[in-house]
Amino acid sequence: MEQRTESLQDYLEKMALNKIKHLIEENLGVNCSGYRDEYLKRRFDIRLKATNTNTYGKYLVYVKKNPSELEKLLNDLAVNYTTFFRDSDVYRYLEYTLLPLIFRNNLHVRIWSAGCATGEEPYSLAILVHKIWGKNVGNPPVTIFASDIDREAMAKATQGRYQRKQLGTVGQHLIDQYFTCDGDFYTVKDFVKRIIHFQQFDLMKPSIHQNIDLILCRNVMIYFQKESQQKIHMMFYGSLKDGGYFVAGKSEILSGEPAERFKPIDHTVRVYQKPKLATA
Ligand SMILES: C[S@@+](CC[C@H](N)C(=O)[O-])C[C@H]1O[C@@H](n2cnc3c(N)ncnc32)[C@H](O)[C@@H]1O
Repeated sequence: MEQRTESLQDYLEKMALNKIKHLIEENLGVNCSGYRDEYLKRRFDIRLKATNTNTYGKYLVYVKKNPSELEKLLNDLAVNYTTFFRDSDVYRYLEYTLLPLIFRNNLHVRIWSAGCATGEEPYSLAILVHKIWGKNVGNPPVTIFASDIDREAMAKATQGRYQRKQLGTVGQHLIDQYFTCDGDFYTVKDFVKRIIHFQQFDLMKPSIHQNIDLILCRNVMIYFQKESQQKIHMMFYGSLKDGGYFVAGKSEILSGEPAERFKPIDHTVRVYQKPKLATA
């Protein structure tokens, strides 16, 4: 008898969880079905605790009475942890191998930092681009598109204003060249910002970019189920130029169709290439 009561409870909780996912999609246009269930539950539980509801059923009632709660839930869904020059070996590879190669072969370079959180990745890329391009030769012919699903993270990224501790290992010489300091805060200089275009974007939606030379999407796929990861990787494949490059997170591997189509270039820093004579 106890067993049956427990399964009914589980069933009701599952229904309530599904209803919450639908509400997010209906009200905020974000499709949660691609995320791993364990991940979603871990993130949703943060709001269950914050609202003292403790079950999805009670939380659903709470959300219906307090519609603004859904935005908070969506904000907590995103894990925004990031740093400037995260995984320094990846940036070394970009600076000394990949970006010089891409510059050599293109008049204007288009880069996409997908899932960029609060902007540290696209700003690190923009700083590298300026370092490689050098001073006194005009603006680098580069556009960096930077996107994330999280509206608050995008607002912070666009501002480009960080506390000293958020700059982490960025050396003083780079800080002096690329940031202005006001009190405890450091703001990315305008000439660096100028080449970056920020835009809120859900990776589960059809691509908004084409003819891209280099895509970075790191430490984002861990939240998605395998089928969604493959769908997103194929979306990147379609967005790249023939011969364009994709950089995945250091612990991420391609599977299914993307693994068959992309050519692995460097295993350690997880660089892949869309073959030059690709047919699709
Ligand atoms: C851990 S951060 C990674 C930041 C950066 N790429 C890095 O490697 O440091 C993960 C980011 O993925 C974003 N994200 C999660 N789901 C997304 C989706 N469906 N579309 C776009 N971005 C998403 C989150 O908002 C979060 O900012």
